[in-house]
Amino acid sequence: MNVNESTVVLAIETSCDETAASVVMGGNDVLSSIVSSQIDIHARFGGVVPEVASRAHMEALIPVVNSAVEEAGILPQRIDAVAATAGPGLIGALLVGVSAAKALSLVWDKPFIGINHLEAHLYAGLLDDPTLQFPLVVLLVSGGHTMIIEMRGHGDYTILGRTIDDAAGEAYDKVARYLTLGYPGGPIIDKIAADGNPTAVDFPRAMMHDGLDVSFSGLKTSVINYVRKNPTMSNTDIAASFQSAVVDVLCAKTIKAAQQVGAKGIVLGGGVSANSALRAQMTERGNAAGFRVALPSRAMCTDNAAMIAAAAWHRLKSDGPMDLSCGAYPNLKLSDVPR
Ligand code: KG4
Ligand code: ZN
Repeated sequence: MNVNESTVVLAIETSCDETAASVVMGGNDVLSSIVSSQIDIHARFGGVVPEVASRAHMEALIPVVNSAVEEAGILPQRIDAVAATAGPGLIGALLVGVSAAKALSLVWDKPFIGINHLEAHLYAGLLDDPTLQFPLVVLLVSGGHTMIIEMRGHGDYTILGRTIDDAAGEAYDKVARYLTLGYPGGPIIDKIAADGNPTAVDFPRAMMHDGLDVSFSGLKTSVINYVRKNPTMSNTDIAASFQSAVVDVLCAKTIKAAQQVGAKGIVLGGGVSANSALRAQMTERGNAAGFRVALPSRAMCTDNAAMIAAAAWHRLKSDGPMDLSCGAYPNLKLSDVPR
């Protein structure tokens, strides 16, 4: 397959609780990116319910794909390949997107490609700034993952550090649940922390001086214990102090990683990289250490299909299309290429 600047990819993302479709040309020209969020459906359960997510994807997918093609202003014939997230994620949710993409690939007689969702998150930053140069250090922080990755080129990654327990987003969601703030916790804590004092409580910065791994489980427990002992303390000060501990550790470790590998830049990715404090501090501290810091737009940080299409363009260029026997893989690792 000849993959070039005019190659158009339609991508579908259904790994968790967003049903998304996007049309991207040449790997970085986003012609459309539609995201239908299920947050309202899951909020009353305080988290994503897998079976409910699969059903909601079934309902939303066809309208979302139609809107993506329509908004791109192209006819389906103009699409050169159809991509879908093949993992990691919820198996029932992934299967909806993979099956739909394979069906479209058969009907339109266009190649199919299954994409690793984690690899796609790395591409969100490159989509917004194609001038970035390798090697890059990417901080990937989402509800399910927290990793510091060295990206030496397309498809060439090393995980330098990761969480040994909870993911950063998971810590936000669990603290918010304890404070009965609502779901998902990240955006709510981000918002109320703006009115709080980040130095009100000196929460622990676990593993601050031990390598590049991080840990958030003890911090979550400290917050819970502190609130139990100090029930009158304002949620805004708790939120700001908790956030300050998370952001401090993430910035320190990412900059340390960038120094170790001589990175040409630091890129953020994943839902937690939409966080205002993380964006501001990583920019300030990264720049002060001499690094260029690339922040994807907030829409590109959280789950979307444009990043899947961008990753698909690069994978098609390096490896070509995939066989329709490619399945859905809930436990895919960053280095795994779906087949
Ligand atoms: O990447 P994402 O959309 O889904 C995956 O987990 O793959 O990330 C969702 C996570 C949730 O835990 C949510 O609370 C967190 O990202 N999040 C935030 C913010 N926006 C979303 N965390 C902190 N601050 C935010 N502004
Ligand atoms: Zn994600």
